[in-house]
Amino acid sequence: MTQEDSRHTVQVRDYFDGRVADYDAFYDPPSPFWRAFNRVFRKAVYLRRDQALKVTLDAGCQTMLDVGCGSGQNTVYFVRHGVAHVLGIDIAPEMIRLAEQLAERAGVRQQCDFVHADFLRMSAEQKSDSVVACGVFDYVERPDEFLAHMARFANRVIYGSFPGWTLIRSPLRKIRYALRGCPTHFYRRREIIALFAKAGFGRTEILPVPSGHLAWAIREV
Ligand SMILES: C[S@@+](CC[C@H](N)C(=O)[O-])C[C@H]1O[C@@H](n2cnc3c(N)ncnc32)[C@H](O)[C@@H]1O
Repeated sequence: MTQEDSRHTVQVRDYFDGRVADYDAFYDPPSPFWRAFNRVFRKAVYLRRDQALKVTLDAGCQTMLDVGCGSGQNTVYFVRHGVAHVLGIDIAPEMIRLAEQLAERAGVRQQCDFVHADFLRMSAEQKSDSVVACGVFDYVERPDEFLAHMARFANRVIYGSFPGWTLIRSPLRKIRYALRGCPTHFYRRREIIALFAKAGFGRTEILPVPSGHLAWAIREV
């Protein structure tokens, strides 16, 4: 932790760093029962990933930046399904270690690079066609800054998943995570519209899903 790391940043990093195995098991469950369970009850994770891939490929993107890539499950999926190169960034060092191993095992190491960093501190020296953040805005303190920063790295597409407010599930989730020391955030549709309007990147679309919204903007070329 450096002096400038906010308490929020440290909480999110430590939360995910300590739960790498649990998180990875969402995607790679130990038994067929849990695989089927996840497909039904955690389908938001697959929906947000599949839509990110669709938007990216439909826009003709070749390269992608996977912000908050976690254990690299999506990163590997993206290159296996048609993206030429993906750079994964995550603030949790253990997540990056696992992501590198996964890409190696999957035989796609040449098409993936991984960086351990707080995305907000990276400078946009190299751009990608598509910049996606799946399951990340849940843990972002300043979503407007975060989306604007994504736009700096993107040639063509910015994309994010945004958990929605629900009367019972959201407060319960907030409490559950808070008890483990991790802040969480939820978004109303009008807030997402305002975020993308402020980013001013391009034509914006918002897709309601059971867990909230998926939203993206495409810059016309
Ligand atoms: C719920 S996981 C999602 C992982 C993956 N994108 C997926 O959909 O499976 C959220 C990830 O975002 C990362 N993260 C949160 N804030 C970040 C930041 N400022 N910079 C880089 N990574 C961040 C966390 O460490 C965590 O691994």
